[in-house]
Order: sequence, then C-alpha cells, then structure tokens
Amino acid sequence: MTVPEYEELAEVYDRWTASNDYESWCDYIQRRIPPSAQVLDACCGTGTMMRLLQSRGFSVAGVDGSAAMLGRAASSLEPGTLLWQQDLSRPGAPPTTFDALICCFDSVNYFVADDGLDALFSFAAGAVRPGGRFLFDVNTEHKLAEIFGNSHYGDDLGQFAYVWRNRYDPDQRRVQFLISLFIEGDGAYHRHEIHHVQRWFPHDTLLSAAAAHGFDLVEVCDDYSDRPVGIGTLRETWVLTRR
Ligand SMILES: C[S@@+](CC[C@H](N)C(=O)[O-])C[C@H]1O[C@@H](n2cnc3c(N)ncnc32)[C@H](O)[C@@H]1O
Repeated sequence: MTVPEYEELAEVYDRWTASNDYESWCDYIQRRIPPSAQVLDACCGTGTMMRLLQSRGFSVAGVDGSAAMLGRAASSLEPGTLLWQQDLSRPGAPPTTFDALICCFDSVNYFVADDGLDALFSFAAGAVRPGGRFLFDVNTEHKLAEIFGNSHYGDDLGQFAYVWRNRYDPDQRRVQFLISLFIEGDGAYHRHEIHHVQRWFPHDTLLSAAAAHGFDLVEVCDDYSDRPVGIGTLRETWVLTRR
C-alpha cells in the first residue's frame, strides 16, 4: 500500500526542501552512531539524508510508503542501494536488522492513526539490533498550533507554485494541510490538490511507545543541536537506544 500524499509532491520535493539544513542534521546523526554503522532511513523520501550518509562512508538502506519518492531516491543513490516500499503505519517487519534507524524531517508526525505510532515503533524494534540506535525528529505542539496552525503560506518557485492552508485542532492534536500545487509542464501550470495531516505527540506518549518496544531514552534536544528543548522549540530530535 502506498502513501498517496507524496505521489505528486515527489516531482518538486527536492526544490521544496532545498533550504533544509540536511548537512547539519547529518553532522548530529554522525556524532551519535558508530563510524561503520549500517543505517536504515525510515520514511527516506527522495533519499537526501541517505546520499549524505553514503558520501560520509556509511552503508545505508531506505524504506518509504511512496513509490514516487522512492523512485527519486533510487535514481540518485549508489547502485545496489537497498530500498523498499512499505506502509510503516501498518504491521510489518523489516528484512534484516541495522545498527541505527533514522526517521527525519517531521515524518513521525505523519503517523496520525491511533495505532500508527505503535506500528512505527514495532517496526523500529525489529529494525534495530540490541545496543543500536533509533534517531528521529518530531514537530512540537508549538509548531503545529502556533506556526502552522490556522495560517496561509504561498510561494512561486518558478517550476512550481503553491498555496498552503492549515487548520489545527487542539482536541485531535492534528493539523490539516490543504496544499494547492501548481506544477509547470507543456506550457501551462497543472493544479494538484494535496491533503496532509500531521499529529503532535506529547513526551509521555513517545516515551511509552519507546519503552513498550524496548528502547531507552538517550537524549532529546532542540532540532539536531546541543540546545535543550524549550517552550520555543519547533522540532525535537530524539535519540533512543535498543535494549
Ligand atoms: C516530510 S517527508 C520526509 C522525507 C525524508 N525523510 C526527508 O528528510 O526529506 C515524509 C516522508 O514520509 C513518508 N511517509 C509518510 N507516512 C508514511 C508511512 N505510513 N509509511 C511509510 N512512509 C511514510 C512519505 O512518503 C514521505 O516520503
């Protein structure tokens, strides 16, 4: 089963995320895994973090729910890189274990179904060898409610333009994104309507999911940095170790 929200975004995803500081995120990850670690990227998208890790000598594999995102990843990674399609919000084990599992750029927030986070952590428990690490980031309630919530964004990036409307529901802890995407092609802009939902997870929910699946907390910080989490934190980075 595929993740449909990303099928059309795949075409413009790398342009859209060009301002993400993947290099410094990778620096943070590199400092927390062994130099020869075999790394699995869950929700790897177009493989940007995988490419960086490969360029730094790591062995990497990737899994994502979107065939279109994986297609982009496959075309830019080293030949023979293991990639597979899997909906990680549903039960399913990985084919082998790794030294580290990463899940970057808000992907955890997409596990909106009530059993989605449990499915992701169950997958993580099967993917990480004992003593190995699970590193992920996750948007905070402050970001979903105050930054994304009830706002409009738009930009024209030449090859594509977008209008992005958000609604945050505090009871559901979910933000709905309605994205109108206009992609240039054949002398016209073609319109796509895309609906995304992200969910906020309180610390106790994440800690319970980690403990239930055999992970202990190493650290939580502000967005791949040495800063502690504070009231202004927009994205947290979590580091867990597998018992
Ligand atoms: C914001 S993108 C992040 C991609 C990549 N990690 C990065 O840093 O650019 C979120 C990714 O999560 C994937 N995704 C969302 N829900 C998923 C699910 N249930 N199972 C597998 N992949 C999922 C999407 O297909 C998309 O590639």
